Amino acid sequence: PTLEKWVTDLPKPGIVEPVGSKDDRPYYELEMQEFDQEMHPDLPATTVWGYEGQFPGPTIEAEKGEPIYVRWENKLPDEHLLPVDTTIHSGMVPYDIPGVRAVTHLHGGNIEHESDGKAQGWYTRDFAETGPTFEKKDYFYVNDQPASALWYHDHSVGITRLNVYAGLAGLYILRSDEERELGLPSGEYEIPLVLQDRSFNDDGSLFYPTTVADAPDDESFPDPSIISEFYGDTSVVNGKAWPRLSVSPRTYRFRILNGSNCRFYNLDLREYDESSETVGDTGPSFVQIGNDGGLLSEPAELDDRLELGPGKRGDVVVDFSEWEGETLLLHNDAPAMYRAEFSSEDDDVVSLPEILLVDVSDSAAEENTSPIPSNLADVPEISLDTVDNIRYLPLLMQRDEYGRNLHKLGNEEHMSGLALDDPVTEDPRLGDTEIWSIVNQTGMSHPIHLHLVHFQVLGRQSAGDYDPAEDDVDLDSLEDPEPYELGWNDVVTVHPSEVVHVAVHFGEYEGLFNDQTGTYMWHCHMVEHEDYDMMRPFVVRPPED
Ligand code: C2O
Ligand code: CU
Repeated sequence: PTLEKWVTDLPKPGIVEPVGSKDDRPYYELEMQEFDQEMHPDLPATTVWGYEGQFPGPTIEAEKGEPIYVRWENKLPDEHLLPVDTTIHSGMVPYDIPGVRAVTHLHGGNIEHESDGKAQGWYTRDFAETGPTFEKKDYFYVNDQPASALWYHDHSVGITRLNVYAGLAGLYILRSDEERELGLPSGEYEIPLVLQDRSFNDDGSLFYPTTVADAPDDESFPDPSIISEFYGDTSVVNGKAWPRLSVSPRTYRFRILNGSNCRFYNLDLREYDESSETVGDTGPSFVQIGNDGGLLSEPAELDDRLELGPGKRGDVVVDFSEWEGETLLLHNDAPAMYRAEFSSEDDDVVSLPEILLVDVSDSAAEENTSPIPSNLADVPEISLDTVDNIRYLPLLMQRDEYGRNLHKLGNEEHMSGLALDDPVTEDPRLGDTEIWSIVNQTGMSHPIHLHLVHFQVLGRQSAGDYDPAEDDVDLDSLEDPEPYELGWNDVVTVHPSEVVHVAVHFGEYEGLFNDQTGTYMWHCHMVEHEDYDMMRPFVVRPPED
């Protein structure tokens, strides 16, 4: 269906309250359910999955230093909403059990491994069946990390792409007194933007391909089949298709999440003429104040666009005070196959330039436009005086037995890649500082995510310029991180033929984060890649005694 743009108002995701307490801590229960949601006035209601009847799920507002418990209740129907390919991880996934497997991961959470929402810690409705690494029903989130926008989403092995596309995702905003004292725009002037791309059928249902575009006419080819990447043709923001937002001419804080399966966003605000649908010059700039894991040390005005790979968050302030009465477009110039070194023959791959329309009202702003403080937070640089390990980690693309794309992660001893269930190879000890040098040997960009930790991007270089046999990374020779890569990251985009070096400290760091040990995951956050098969465990071992 062709949907008229900008005819529906942008809603804010709801906020969920605890239902009681457990061990004197707030206790939340969020139910995963199937329900119908109106995404656009011209479209019949869409059957989606979400939490508490909301897509995206309601926001959990947590406070630094105040732990909470959350039970993510699986109340999903017996059948999946979308086509399930039973060849993915068929050795470890019991596709024949009744019900839908689900498990919720808190992305960006510095949390105990039992509560991490592991891929194989899934469970079906009412915990009837549980996966091999399922440990507990009530997850404990210690909330002892810098204030930041985290998000929760499904993580079930082999079907994460489908569960997330159906709608199992929402925001988790951690706040702190330190942050409140900065006087950043808040309340109605702080707006979460959950960016997603979706495609719809005429009856309003979600469209998700059943098989690859070039599926061979061969009975042995899996049907349904996983696809290599998914790109939707419709911008959905906070659960509405092509919405518009009214703002006053003053400063706003936007908490932007790229919640799309595979799509990259490369964003700025442009002048927009609605009657002629023309995109004009650059509008107000983004002032980046925070990244995945918290505030930057100081605000960074972006003179270029804000890049957000899947899974990544941007915390930005925009000053609309000079734009009274103007209409602005949140514009995305990222092509679907981001920075691909090949051209796609697949005509279904669409770019998505128009994301959200913003109307700036005429009303003179009496209140605020208070300046952004020049010091936002203390972001200590991870010391590289003692680096315990430098890991060389290739991103790979191969073919499976059916000729389909199979994406993989490897390491220095396994340059041709490792599978999800191969033995753990990344096993730092608590207290270690490591450099992870991620090298992209495929033809397109990948957003790489590590659970548990927040890392600092040291820089990037051409893959050919780095020799992993060297003992050191020559920091001076690296291209600097982008402004939106400063501070604490949990996702970093690695472009084709480049190596990105990130500094990771496992454990508490200068009073930030917690000591956690155990098994966690790292993976590409294009969820089609994550499912097949760009995900690996890492283990934080206890310190040497
Ligand atoms: Cu946002 Cu392991 O994921
Ligand atoms: Cu990928």
